[in-house]
Amino acid sequence: MMQFKMAPARWMVASAVAVSLMGSASALAQTEVKLGYALSETSHYGVAAAKWQEEVEANTDGRFVFRHFPNSGLGGEREVVEGVQIGTVEATIVSSGTLSNFVPEAGVADIPFLFRNLEHARNVMDGEVGQEILAKFDDVGLVALAWGEQGFRHITNNRGPIDEPGDMAGLKLRTMENPVHITAFETLGAAPTPMAWPEVIGALQQGTIDGQENPLSVITSANLAEVQRHLTLSGHVYSPAMLLVSRQLWDGMSEEDQQIFSDAAAEAVIAMRAFVDDVEQRGVDQLREAGMEVGELSDEQKAVFQEALASAYEQYYGQYGQDLIEQIIATE
Ligand code: PAF
Repeated sequence: MMQFKMAPARWMVASAVAVSLMGSASALAQTEVKLGYALSETSHYGVAAAKWQEEVEANTDGRFVFRHFPNSGLGGEREVVEGVQIGTVEATIVSSGTLSNFVPEAGVADIPFLFRNLEHARNVMDGEVGQEILAKFDDVGLVALAWGEQGFRHITNNRGPIDEPGDMAGLKLRTMENPVHITAFETLGAAPTPMAWPEVIGALQQGTIDGQENPLSVITSANLAEVQRHLTLSGHVYSPAMLLVSRQLWDGMSEEDQQIFSDAAAEAVIAMRAFVDDVEQRGVDQLREAGMEVGELSDEQKAVFQEALASAYEQYYGQYGQDLIEQIIATE
């Protein structure tokens, strides 16, 4: 048998060509999924992102490779959703902050004191109302796979405790770029300052705003105790989140892969909700230990806030329709 001997230099060239051919074959077969989100990898978003990745990568034999951009690495939430819309970003996990700017109906979930507790909110978002809103994202070139969540939002600030609406008079409170929230805080007499999340910590440090509002999941993961003294457990509004992918990514997939992405998103939501359940249990103690002064609104105090919001509720009823709001309230 003839033995083929190759000179070392030629052998090296041949191997390099083989590796590069193998490399380009696998590069051709792999789709990168850039996944942007506002918080750290150890937050509820990070945990959901890791689960989404794990499930998709395992079930598609590595045909999709996730690349995480945590901590607003791709910009503020509005910018990232716009990136998903034009296809420069493949996927994101975002709050409802700017979503009603894309699909106005999404704003119904932002109405203050609408949801009784997490179970009620989850049943609404996983039920007919929530699923119909997800479907509307198709009309604006986005594929909304599932509702995740952050928990109920609470107020933090450096001015003082908040027990009644009057305590918020003129309070420079950063809000999300969300018209429903802005209306509510204006009605309560605060000075809402809509701002993209990446600017918030700096603005709190510099004192250009007095406070902000976010769920315990965010207050703990973003270490807000370092820049905020008072925490009022107001639970004034539920904070849903959404798992979105780009139309370009979606349309380029087989139906089987689309199903894998959807199932994986559902698993990611389970992981995110488990994180939220956990932080709802231990978050307040953690923030007290970190030096925050914590007050909690009683049901009677919350009723006073709701009364003060009467004119805002009229606007919401006009905008979203009484039937829809009553359907949400009637959900078990
Ligand atoms: O307050 C916000 O903008 C959002 O809750 C945040 C922190 C970006 C998480 O989505």
